[in-house]
Amino acid sequence: MLLLQTLSALLLGVSLVAAGTKVCHGKDKDVCSIVTCESPGKDGLSGKDGNEGPRGPVGEQGPPGLNGPPGPQGIAGIQGLRGAQGPQGEKGETGASALEALKIQILSMGGRLTALQITITAMIKALLFSRGTSAGDKFFVTNGVEGNYNDAKATCSKAGGQLASPLNSEENQAVSALSLQYKKKPFLGINDIETEGTFRYLTGELIGYSNWNPNEPNNDKGVEDCVEMYTTGKWNDKNCNEKHLVVCEFF
Ligand code: GLC
Ligand code: CA
Repeated sequence: MLLLQTLSALLLGVSLVAAGTKVCHGKDKDVCSIVTCESPGKDGLSGKDGNEGPRGPVGEQGPPGLNGPPGPQGIAGIQGLRGAQGPQGEKGETGASALEALKIQILSMGGRLTALQITITAMIKALLFSRGTSAGDKFFVTNGVEGNYNDAKATCSKAGGQLASPLNSEENQAVSALSLQYKKKPFLGINDIETEGTFRYLTGELIGYSNWNPNEPNNDKGVEDCVEMYTTGKWNDKNCNEKHLVVCEFF
């Protein structure tokens, strides 16, 4: 529309120059105007629309658009190799990882304990089959050898046990079973060496259980400070220098 107006103004100017007087002024007489003595004519009709102008410059970049919806899940990656064992954690470490490690240790120990129990059970069976008996948590074992009291006592001590010292009828029966099996009379871990007539265990404690044969202890000939067990399970005080079956107890 601006172009159209400009063209109209130019056409009007040309027609005015043709009809009026040209008057120039200014320093170089380069500013001229047309002076007419006639009255101005009516406005002409508007011209036709001009052609489309050239394309304008590219506009500035607009603000970023909104985020689009999430894309589909990607394909799972290949499992990595197991890492090397890490260093031992600090003392007092807590948390899930420490608890997991503890669980693994407990499981491992449980397995080893079961294996140990199987082994021990087999060993006990073998022992009881050959030369041992049991009563409660105690095991009575003989090497089948006979010896005097001091030797018998030392033999059991070296083996990690002590001379058989039955504390009740069940234990007494377990020792007498070995006496019957070997057809020999064992020494017991009981004596009255310290005080005649007062029988004590090897610990020095007074005996709390006895199974004397009738009329025993009699300290025959005044030299009987030790105790033997008959195959019946009954007790007799006897000379410590005599040789009797070595039966030890372990618990
Ligand atoms: C008899 C007695 C007994 C004594 C033993 C000594 O068997 O009854 O008390 O200890 O002889 O050998
Ligand atoms: Ca006696």
